[in-house]
Amino acid sequence: MTAPETAGRRVRVARMDDLPAGTMLMVQVDGTNILLVNHEGTVRAMQGTCSHEYFELDRGFITGDSITCALHLSRFDLATGEALDPPAELPLATYPAEVVDGEVVLTLPGGEIPVNE
Ligand code: FES
Repeated sequence: MTAPETAGRRVRVARMDDLPAGTMLMVQVDGTNILLVNHEGTVRAMQGTCSHEYFELDRGFITGDSITCALHLSRFDLATGEALDPPAELPLATYPAEVVDGEVVLTLPGGEIPVNE
């Protein structure tokens, strides 16, 4: 019996050595950009491109509890993905992340990785 398409899958995407506190790292899973942020020791994972227009968020800035897109300066909550300023309206999709044996492990859907755009 095969797992349904919607079943979660756990994917190792990076080593914590490559994600020191206060930094971010773009990774790809199935061709989808995912941004990892080490926020005061807690790893957050979210879609790697802005929900406003196509722009890579690792070119932006960590600003307190949010990330700021460098193109039009919308901020997004690191924990929830919520858009905090215009022009972005849609939240960033976020993905559960944990650290296992020094590696970042994401729980992703079995099918297509959701991205808001
Ligand atoms: S592309 Fe990010 S705010 Fe416009």
